[in-house]
Amino acid sequence: MSEIQIFGLSPLKGEISIQGSKNAVLPMMAAALLHKGVTVLMNVPVIRDVSCMADILEYLGCCIRRQGDCLAIDARNIDRTGIPDHFVRAMRSSIVVLGALLGRMGEGSGCYPGGCLIGARPIDLHIKVLKELGAEILEEENHLTVRRGPEGIRGAEIHLAYPSVGATEQAILASVLARDVTVIHGAAKEPEIAELCDFLNNMGAIICGMGTEHLMIQGVRCLHDASFRVDGDRIVAGTYAAAAAAAGGDILMKGIKSSCLRVPLALLARIGAKLRTEEKAGRIRVSMEEIPRALDIRTGPYPEFPTDLQSPFMALLASGRGVSHIEERVFEGRFATAEALKSMGARIRVRDREAVLEGVHPLTGARVAASDLRGGAALVVAGLAARGETRIAGCLHIERGYEDICRDLAALGARIRWVKEDGT
Ligand code: EPZ
Repeated sequence: MSEIQIFGLSPLKGEISIQGSKNAVLPMMAAALLHKGVTVLMNVPVIRDVSCMADILEYLGCCIRRQGDCLAIDARNIDRTGIPDHFVRAMRSSIVVLGALLGRMGEGSGCYPGGCLIGARPIDLHIKVLKELGAEILEEENHLTVRRGPEGIRGAEIHLAYPSVGATEQAILASVLARDVTVIHGAAKEPEIAELCDFLNNMGAIICGMGTEHLMIQGVRCLHDASFRVDGDRIVAGTYAAAAAAAGGDILMKGIKSSCLRVPLALLARIGAKLRTEEKAGRIRVSMEEIPRALDIRTGPYPEFPTDLQSPFMALLASGRGVSHIEERVFEGRFATAEALKSMGARIRVRDREAVLEGVHPLTGARVAASDLRGGAALVVAGLAARGETRIAGCLHIERGYEDICRDLAALGARIRWVKEDGT
């Protein structure tokens, strides 16, 4: 098992291209099940979660060909409708495959995804939307089966009490081939939702309202072959922007739209970073010549500050100066990384969903372990802003969402590399 070794306090300089978006491509891969044909996705990141979703699709009967950053999914012959437990446990977002299977095959089943370190992550809203679209739900112990009801899957007027990303995706995938019109009120407005809808419209679906909380899906009888380029990953870009602000320096990120990072970029400017964005060209420049100032952050559904950047920004603020406050309003377990940061000298007090940080600059390198995907990325940010050597174990978490965080940051001049546990 590899670890990450960092020698901190080297400023980041240079330019990197941002990988395709994990949270956009995963539901698109599930959506490919809806079409008895071939769909091609471009700019697909080479990450563990994409491999896991590809394994699920192949298990269900798809043929998948990967060529560089292109993924061709041939879903002509689907011959299974049950997702094996180990896949769902490895990647809870596979739960949206149920909606696609329901739309395509009239049924789908899998185990409950269960919680993870960042929170309980119930799926009550997923079940609600599927029921309202006419599915029969069979819940046995830890297993869930969704089946087309006696009246088939038909359009419905759905009201989401919380703008759940996954439940919104579930409703979209289950309603694309339904009879009549489905309207989702209170839909999630994350950019990944609009990308999923654009991809489906590219395949012949009829969806409008993207970017708003009211989505309308006119059911169609079938879809057609299509290809689609996945946008850059806003959370990876936000992580690297936080790294540049923490380590200092001047970086240019390519292949990322600044409009999807408006709030995080505005907060970086408030703590002293200089930013230049070129939306059309898909480029964001971040430079930092001072120790980060304190800041208050409150996470929330898009367009509020994204919960996925809370841990990397916690690491950034922990290595700055002054007293910052973070309120985590999306996932109750997203402060787990604070303990590892404290072993690097960070001064953080956590109570319920609030954290109070007193910046310490620089932090001190230490041996730490990642316990979740974005928490692991946060430890990399902290290592870049720490004196001495930092070793990060548990990197499988990081590899779920970052193609090669060492490759990217080393290209910007960071003293960072993968090492085997025996140090080679
Ligand atoms: C998606 O998770 C993302 N994952 C998460 O990114 C991201 O943090 C999250 O959206 C919020 O933006 C993918 O897209 C693969 P939610 P999801 O449903 O769909 C509650 C990462 O690091 N809820 O919007 O699971 C839930 O408990 C990952 O890339 C219910 O109560 O997020 C949470 O408090 C982590 N009932 C809140 O809603 C439900 O049925 C947000 O969950 C569903 C959700």
